Amino acid sequence: MSGDLPAERGPTDPAAATWDRVPPLLTVEHLTMRFGGLTAVDDVSFIAGQREITAIIGPNGAGKTTVFNCLTGFYRPTAGRLSLERGDGTHYLLERMEGFRIAREARVARTFQNIRLFPQMSVLENLIVAQHNKLMLASGYTVLGLFGIGGYREAERAAVEKAKFWLDRVGLTARADWDAGNLPYGDQRRLEIARAMCTEPALLCLDEPAAGLNPRESLELNQLLLSIRDDDGVGVLLIEHDMSVVMGISDHVIVLDYGRKIADGTPVEVRNDPTVIRAYLGEEESDELPPEVAADLGIAPDAGTQ
Ligand SMILES: Nc1ncnc2c1ncn2[C@@H]1O[C@H](COP(=O)(O)OP(=O)(O)O)[C@@H](O)[C@H]1O
Ligand SMILES: [Mg+2]
Repeated sequence: MSGDLPAERGPTDPAAATWDRVPPLLTVEHLTMRFGGLTAVDDVSFIAGQREITAIIGPNGAGKTTVFNCLTGFYRPTAGRLSLERGDGTHYLLERMEGFRIAREARVARTFQNIRLFPQMSVLENLIVAQHNKLMLASGYTVLGLFGIGGYREAERAAVEKAKFWLDRVGLTARADWDAGNLPYGDQRRLEIARAMCTEPALLCLDEPAAGLNPRESLELNQLLLSIRDDDGVGVLLIEHDMSVVMGISDHVIVLDYGRKIADGTPVEVRNDPTVIRAYLGEEESDELPPEVAADLGIAPDAGTQ
C-alpha cells in the first residue's frame, strides 16, 4: 500500500459511511502512524462534528495520544488525511501543516496528558503568554512595536481582558497571582483548559483532563466542557478514561484498541457494544464482566455475556 488516499470519499469510506449528524469539523481519513515496526494508529477514520463533544476512548496504548500528536503536528502521520472545516468556510489539511501553523491558523488547541504549564509564572501570566502569537503580530515583530507604538498596547489590553475572562470561567480569579506550580492539581487542569481557550480555538483537544480529579472537580469539568461546546461553540475532542465524564457529556464516542477503531457511535451505542466490552476485558474471554469494568462502562454486570 502506498498510503495514498482516494481523492473523494467513496461509499465504503468508514468516515463517510457513518456520518449523518451535524456538519463535520474534523474529518480523519485512514490515519496511520508507525514507529519503526509498531503501528500505533492503524487506518483510523472518524468525524468530529461542529459544536459537539467527541470522546476518544480505549485501553492504555490504544493510540489515543498518538492521534492527538498527529492532529497537532507533533508527529507527521505515516498516511492519512486530517481535514478541518471551520463553520466559516475555511478549510485546512492539517497533515500538511507545521505544528505552529496548526495552532495559529487552523486554530487547533490542546492540553497534555501530563500538565504543561509554566510553573514559576503566575496563573494570569500563563494565560497572557498563551496569546503570545497575537501579541507579536500586533507588535509587527519589532522592538518599537513592543514599546507601545502601533497596536501593541491595545492588543496587550485585550489579552489581559481575555485572560481575566477565562480565569472567571474556570473559577480561578481569586488565584490569579499564584504561581501556577503551586495550584492544587484540579486547578492546574482547569488552567490548562483556560490557556487553550485563550487562543480562540476552533477545535479543542483535551488529553485525559479528568485524570486525578475528585468527583466534585470531575462534575465541574463536565459543566465547563458543556459550556465550551454550547456557549463558545467550540468542538471538543476528548481523550478520557473516566466513563462518567465520557458517558455524561459526549455527543459521540470513538473507541480505539491496538491502534484500530473498533466502535463509533453515540455513548449508548458504544457502551452496549460487545466488541467494546471485550476490549476493556482484555484478551481473556470471560463469561462474567468484572463488576469494576461494568461500573466503568456504566452497564449492568451481565451485559458482556453472550
Ligand atoms: N514517539 C513514539 N515512539 C515509539 N512508540 C510510540 C511513540 N509514541 C507512542 N508510541 C507507542 O504507540 C502506542 C500508542 O501509544 P499512545 O498513543 O500513547 O496510547 P494511548 O494514549 O492510547 O495510551 C504505544 O504502544 C506507544 O508505546
Ligand atoms: Mg495517552
